[in-house]
Amino acid sequence: MPSAAFVARLNEQIGHEYAAHQQYVAIAVHYDAETLPQLARFFYRQALEERDHAMMMVQYLLDADERAVVPGVAAPQVDFDDVVSPVALALAQEKRVSEQINALAALAREENDYSSEQFMQWFIKEQIEEVATMSDLLRVVERSQDNAMDIEDYLAREQLGDASEDPTAPHPAGAG
Ligand SMILES: [Fe+2]
Ligand SMILES: [Fe+2]
Repeated sequence: MPSAAFVARLNEQIGHEYAAHQQYVAIAVHYDAETLPQLARFFYRQALEERDHAMMMVQYLLDADERAVVPGVAAPQVDFDDVVSPVALALAQEKRVSEQINALAALAREENDYSSEQFMQWFIKEQIEEVATMSDLLRVVERSQDNAMDIEDYLAREQLGDASEDPTAPHPAGAG
C-alpha cells in the first residue's frame, strides 16, 4: 500500500504533468500560428506524452485503491518574443519536473514504500531522456534562430523526440 504522504505528493505531480501538457499545447499552437509545422508537431507530441504521464500516475493510484484527484491547472504562457524562448521555457520545465520526480522517489524510499519507489524508476529514466531531447532542441534553435527554416529542416530530418514503443512504460488510465 502506498504511503499517505506519497499519495498526496503524487496527486500534486499529476497537476504538474497536466500543467506541462497545457504549456506544450500552448507552445505548439504558437508555432503552428507562426507556420512552423515541425516545431508545432514536436510540441503537440510532447504534450500528449505529458498527458500520458499524468494518466499513468492516475492508473497507479486506481490500482492501489487510492484516491486520484483530477486537478485544475494555472494558465500557461501563450505569448513568446522569438523562436528560442518557448524551447528555453520547455527545458526549464523539464528540469523542474526532474527534480519533482526525484523528490517523489526519495519520499517513497523514506517512507519504506517500495512499490512506489519502483513505480518512480520509469519516470526517472524518462526525465533524463526528456531533458536531453529538449537540450538538443535548444541548441538547434539557438544556432538557427535567424533562419527558422533550418530548424524545420533539422526536425523533419532528425525525428527528434519521436518516441519508440517502450514496453516498460506504465499503463495510462483509459488507454485501452
Ligand atoms: Fe512528464
Ligand atoms: Fe516532460
